[in-house]
Amino acid sequence: MALLDVSDVTMKFGELVANRGVSFTVETGSIVGLIGPNGAGKTTLFNCISGLCKPTEGKICFDGNDITGWKPYQIAAKGAVRTFQVVRPLKDMTVFDNVLVGAFLKCSDNRKAFQKADECIGLCRLETVRERLAGELSIGGKKRLEMARALATSPKLLMLDEVMAGLTSTEVNESVEVIQKLKQAGLTLMVVEHVLDAIMSIADKIVVLDGGIKIAEDTPGRIIDDERVIEAYLGAKYSQRYKRRNEIGAVD
Ligand SMILES: Nc1ncnc2c1ncn2[C@@H]1O[C@H](COP(=O)(O)OP(=O)(O)O)[C@@H](O)[C@H]1O
Ligand SMILES: [Mg+2]
Repeated sequence: MALLDVSDVTMKFGELVANRGVSFTVETGSIVGLIGPNGAGKTTLFNCISGLCKPTEGKICFDGNDITGWKPYQIAAKGAVRTFQVVRPLKDMTVFDNVLVGAFLKCSDNRKAFQKADECIGLCRLETVRERLAGELSIGGKKRLEMARALATSPKLLMLDEVMAGLTSTEVNESVEVIQKLKQAGLTLMVVEHVLDAIMSIADKIVVLDGGIKIAEDTPGRIIDDERVIEAYLGAKYSQRYKRRNEIGAVD
């Protein structure tokens, strides 16, 4: 059974339709990439799944529960959590305390919560800024903090909204490594990302949105050849470059 089942979800803001009849599933233990141009409705879909928006129509099932219209804290408690594209640190608290807030969702015991927070700080490579105020971090640091705080809640599904935007290429590689480690540990992930090389390398499946509509859902290898996706988002140049590089990789 799929961990997440998004069925015919429509989200309207007045006249504006941010998501229109979107359906897809996320299998347990997989990484699903969600891509598309700016304004395609990716963040809105995360808002619907995480309870920040109540879909106008449609149904969202998570881990066997119909969570449509549930509050964010109820959905987080069930194990579906997300990071924010526009980072939201508790900026006057230390990095450690920010992550601890996440840990307290599931740990009632102080010692266990502290342990969990430090484990997530280590995983997201925040050890050197553990005692710094969150507001003082670089954008890369704040993105990693978003991830650590979400991870500290011990989720089953982690939804990452552009956590690699604004990072250096070394930081992108580090984030890819962290995501792969999380998958190996059994976590299921949905990843919204414009860093295409990163998303193509980690996703088992990619869902493409354009103008609020799902225009494709397939493996990275097939998405790269999808004319509609090339036209709406990838561009012919990227598609050719990706294929050429992978062919060269295969020969080498
Ligand atoms: N709370 C809101 N109220 C009104 N319009 C919104 C709201 N949230 C998103 N939108 C609109 O919905 C569309 C999709 O936005 P968004 O989901 O942020 O796209 P993406 O994350 O793919 O860039 C955009 O036109 C955006 O302006
Ligand atoms: Mg967005």
